[in-house]
Formats: sequence, structure tokens, C-alpha cells
Amino acid sequence: MKHLLGIEDLSKEQIETLIDSAMELKAGRGPDAEKHLCGQTWAMIFTKSSTRTRVSFEVGLNELGASPMFLNANDIQIGRGEPIKDTARVLGRMVHGIIIRTYDQEDVEQLAEYSGIPVINALTDEEHPCQILADLLTIKEKLGGWEGKKVSFFGDGDCNMGRSWAWASKRLGFELCIAAPEEFQPDAEFRKRLGDSPVSITADVNAAADGADVLYTDTWVSMGKENEAADRLRVLAPFQINDDVVAAANPGAIVQHCLPAYRGKEITEEVLEAHSDAIFQEAENRLHAQKAVLVALAGS
Ligand code: CP
Ligand code: NVA
Repeated sequence: MKHLLGIEDLSKEQIETLIDSAMELKAGRGPDAEKHLCGQTWAMIFTKSSTRTRVSFEVGLNELGASPMFLNANDIQIGRGEPIKDTARVLGRMVHGIIIRTYDQEDVEQLAEYSGIPVINALTDEEHPCQILADLLTIKEKLGGWEGKKVSFFGDGDCNMGRSWAWASKRLGFELCIAAPEEFQPDAEFRKRLGDSPVSITADVNAAADGADVLYTDTWVSMGKENEAADRLRVLAPFQINDDVVAAANPGAIVQHCLPAYRGKEITEEVLEAHSDAIFQEAENRLHAQKAVLVALAGS
């Protein structure tokens, strides 16, 4: 594995190895843990806001012996129009890896192509692979694994999270049901690229909830979509995870949310608080899953 640009690029074996490694790193966390990235410096270019991703990468890099260098995209020359491929070639001569959160997946791919060092996608409009790895780790801890399980995603099925879930389902073979109104279902071009997969797409919330082992949601207004907020909140309102959705799922189903959560919108206050143990375990797992990615890339 040279980069982590999307779940789409990973094989079943690579995903399984990363989750196993994350579990080992989690169990072995502490001052005596091996410093796999000793003496390295990793740049973190962020064009969008972040709490979990930024904190977990900065802590993870420190714990692995590396120094994070946080670069707000507006403070570096990218913000004034310097091409990504030039930034990539400069950073590639100075740092050991790049973590980037931005809009366009192509920018992340160009960084990987021109920098010559490992690049990690920390969220684009296309994918959020780091989040999915943390989610899979949580599902393994809570349910023993994803084999034979039904994961149901409610809300904006065409956002980065919906798309990354679809690739995870295809690669790992578990059932994924995306419940979304027609205009927020993965588009035809994406479905064609996905090809045959265990992914079903429906506008029927009850059908998605029925027999689900994991109920998953994400904000209805992803970063960059703020000007569509009013329309999104109206159209997506029936796709909220609430007590009725939880009641229709399998007994023992877990609720997951990548966070930040907007209570009363994609999830009710009651459901979020009743399932906060699993949801904040999922947030913590960002740290362990990303450490596994960093260790895998540093050794490539
Ligand atoms: N889930 C997630 O990526 O959170 P942040 O936007 O806070 O990083
Ligand atoms: N779909 C959301 C994920 C936030 C972690 C967004 O892109 O804003």
C-alpha cells in the first residue's frame, strides 16, 4: 500500500490487515509502544474544518514518534493558486508523508502522483476512507465482525460517506442498504463504476431499517453544501434515525455516526444519547485506525 486515497483502491486483504493492525495498536497503546515513524515529519493540508480528523492524526503521529505540520490551505500558497503538483514536489523533498482534507478527489490523486511520498485522503467530496476504517474497527469490536451483517445508511447517500460505505460493502461482501430520497442516491456514473455489489438503494426507510445490524447516518449538509441547506433539510427529513427506525432494526443493532451530529436533523437527541457509547468509541477509533494506516504507509 503506497497511499490511502479511497476505500475503492483497497483490497479485502488490505482492509482486514489494517483493522487487525489497528486492534493491536489500540491494545498496545502507551509510552512503551514502538515509534514506527520516529523522526519523521508529516504535512497536514486542510481546506475544510475538522475536529476528529485533525486531532486524531496529530495525536497519532506524535504517538508514533513523528511530528505533524498543520497547514491551513489558506495560509499556504495553494490558497493563492499555486498548483497542487508544484506543492506536491516541494513537500515531497522535505516531509515524509502528506495528509490532505479538501474538496476534489483529483487534487489528492495529483498530490500522490507528484510528491513521491505517501498521501492519505482525510476526506474529499468523493470519499472518507479514514472514517470507514474506524467504523469497521468499531463494528468488529461491537458485533464481532461484518460478515453476514446488514449495514443501513440513512440520509445523503451520494455524499463521501455513502460512497465510501458502498466500496467497503463491495470489497468486504457485507450487505449495505442506502436509504435516501431519489435526488440524494448515488448517481448513475457511480453505480456503473461500483458494478456488481451487495449494495441496495431505496427510498423506503422501513425496508432499510428492517433487520439492520448497524444503523448509520451523517450530516445532511456536508461541508461545501451549505448553500443547499434549506432544500436538503426539507427533502431529507423523513430519513432521520429515530426511535421508530431503531425499533425496526435487529435487537442489539448499533447506531453509528461519523460526527459532527446535528440533533433533531439526521438523528434525534434521544437516539444519539442512548447510543453514545458506540458513537464515541467510533470517534476514538479514528486514532487507532489511522495509526494503522500510518504504520502501513511508513513501511511501504
Ligand atoms: N468525522 C470526521 O471526519 O470529523 P471531523 O470533520 O471533525 O474531522
Ligand atoms: N459528509 C460529511 C462528513 C463529515 C465528517 C462532510 O463531508 O461534511
